Amino acid sequence: MQPWHVHVLTGQVRDALCAAVCCAFDADAFESREYDYYPSDFFEPYLARRRENGWSLYGLLGIQREEKARMRAQMRRNFTFFDAPVGLIFTVDRRLAQGSWLDFGMFLQNLMLAATARGMATCPQAAWIDFHGVVGQQLGFAEHEQLVCGMALGYADPRAIENELHPARVPLAEFVVYHDGACAG
Ligand SMILES: Cc1cc2nc3c(=O)[nH]c(=O)nc-3n(C[C@H](O)[C@H](O)[C@H](O)COP(=O)(O)O)c2cc1C
Repeated sequence: MQPWHVHVLTGQVRDALCAAVCCAFDADAFESREYDYYPSDFFEPYLARRRENGWSLYGLLGIQREEKARMRAQMRRNFTFFDAPVGLIFTVDRRLAQGSWLDFGMFLQNLMLAATARGMATCPQAAWIDFHGVVGQQLGFAEHEQLVCGMALGYADPRAIENELHPARVPLAEFVVYHDGACAG
């Protein structure tokens, strides 16, 4: 079904979208989400993993727990695509079902791998869903288009310390159950 739609933004259109969303972010004009990327009540083991990821990023950037303004500035960088020259905004027809969202995840992964294979880098961004209305207005979404996420596409800055973040992977034993299929007798 190939349910994906991609808005590829460069130059003035990219800049105008960034300006509009940064303005909304600065005004705290977060919109009600059309879908939740995270559960509203976090629980283990996901809570600990997410916290570790967040604190590892802030740790690299030297942001302490009480430095809310610096956290906000870091969050805001999402809305300039972390200075990447190409911004990607992904949408899906909201009338489709969950299976299409699975397909969409595979598409995003393929795109990230393809970029990496060509020496480029990406950052997938759920952050944009908080401003789906502004984004839709700027890009002229069609009636059934729903924002899935954004993605920054460019070249990784080797001097940027945040690019050193490589979250640990959960060991296989924690998420795989081997059912021994050997036939008894
Ligand atoms: C669908 C998706 C949405 C994400 N949203 C954001 C985001 O809004 N902002 C951001 O800085 N990183 C975002 N990330 C990037 C994660 O922070 C990054 O993947 C994480 O640091 C883990 O690294 P890993 O993918 O190598 O495990 C997102 C990742 C995925 C897969």
